[in-house]
Amino acid sequence: MKREFIDPWSANLPENHKDIIKKFGLEKFDVRDFPKPNLLMRRGFVFSGRDLKIISDCIKNRKKFYALTGIMPTSDKIHFGTKSVIDQMIYFQNHGAETYVLVADLEAAATRGVDLKEARTRALEIHIPCYIALGLDAKKTRFYFQSENNDVRNLAFELSNKATLNEYKAIYGNAEPSRIMASILQVADILHPQLNKSMPGIVPIGIDQDPHIRLSRDITNRAKKFGFILPSSINVKFLPSLSGGLKMSKSEGNSLYLLDSDEEIKKKVAKALTGGRKTSKEQREKGANPDKDMLFELFRQHLIKNDDRLTKREEDYKKGKILDSENKEYATKLLIEFMHDFRRKYEKARRKTKRLFRD
Ligand code: TRP
Repeated sequence: MKREFIDPWSANLPENHKDIIKKFGLEKFDVRDFPKPNLLMRRGFVFSGRDLKIISDCIKNRKKFYALTGIMPTSDKIHFGTKSVIDQMIYFQNHGAETYVLVADLEAAATRGVDLKEARTRALEIHIPCYIALGLDAKKTRFYFQSENNDVRNLAFELSNKATLNEYKAIYGNAEPSRIMASILQVADILHPQLNKSMPGIVPIGIDQDPHIRLSRDITNRAKKFGFILPSSINVKFLPSLSGGLKMSKSEGNSLYLLDSDEEIKKKVAKALTGGRKTSKEQREKGANPDKDMLFELFRQHLIKNDDRLTKREEDYKKGKILDSENKEYATKLLIEFMHDFRRKYEKARRKTKRLFRD
């Protein structure tokens, strides 16, 4: 059988979730294990993970655990879908986790040639304030830069002793020095909260990052002297672009970003891929398909929180009671409302971030 790989640095995101769960030995996410599940958990957008029971046990029995994630500061724009990962961080923060969010500036330097100074400015001006504006509690979250965390870097060097090139090839398919450095650093990111106290940890991520989780777990098993607990992970589905694509490349064009202006929103929604028919007449007669509609994807993942309201809208769309023009108008309105509120929070969060990082 041909081996298959997920490449975390590729612009092509893996799509077939059922297939991935089987191929890579993931666990299916079971919403019944998590008290007061959030919207993405409830609606099936959180779909898999590793060692999830350990974390649900921590939540139920009020035991210490941590949640950690990281994002590369490669661009000034933050994909709207990043909200899905931060939503999971917020969930765990609200359920007792120590929370860590790191700026993967060294990874961005090694794998994308991003200048460290530029990465820092970008993270302080845009990334960190956006994560706070999405709802992370700034006081309770430990933000750090890979380039400034000695514990993490030292741990990465020590752990490199437990990784082999063969294993690397088995997980990632190939081996480039920059990628080896970045992935071992990520393993150290993921495990370093356990240096101070032994506790389980969970890493909310898109499935593209699962290879790093596998590497982390392999290395944990081998680096016995540290006595680390195997890290858990939880995977959220990606938010497709409004044209329906899952490529994260710039040429793809119609992705939504946090802080998009009203004009940008209007333009993007106008071009969105819908589940509608060729003509209004046909749509009224035969109905349309919300499952192929990118605006419904947005409603489901982020914009319509009330389940009844969402179901009603889906039913109406299926019956042809709602036309694409009306649906686009509604999506535009919801998105603009979201973004105005978000901008206000972002401005506040920028001031908070300045205080947090005052030297
Ligand atoms: N590799 C992640 C990305 O591409 C960033 C990252 C670095 C990360 N360290 C991490 C994610 C630890 C989760 C946990 O954006």
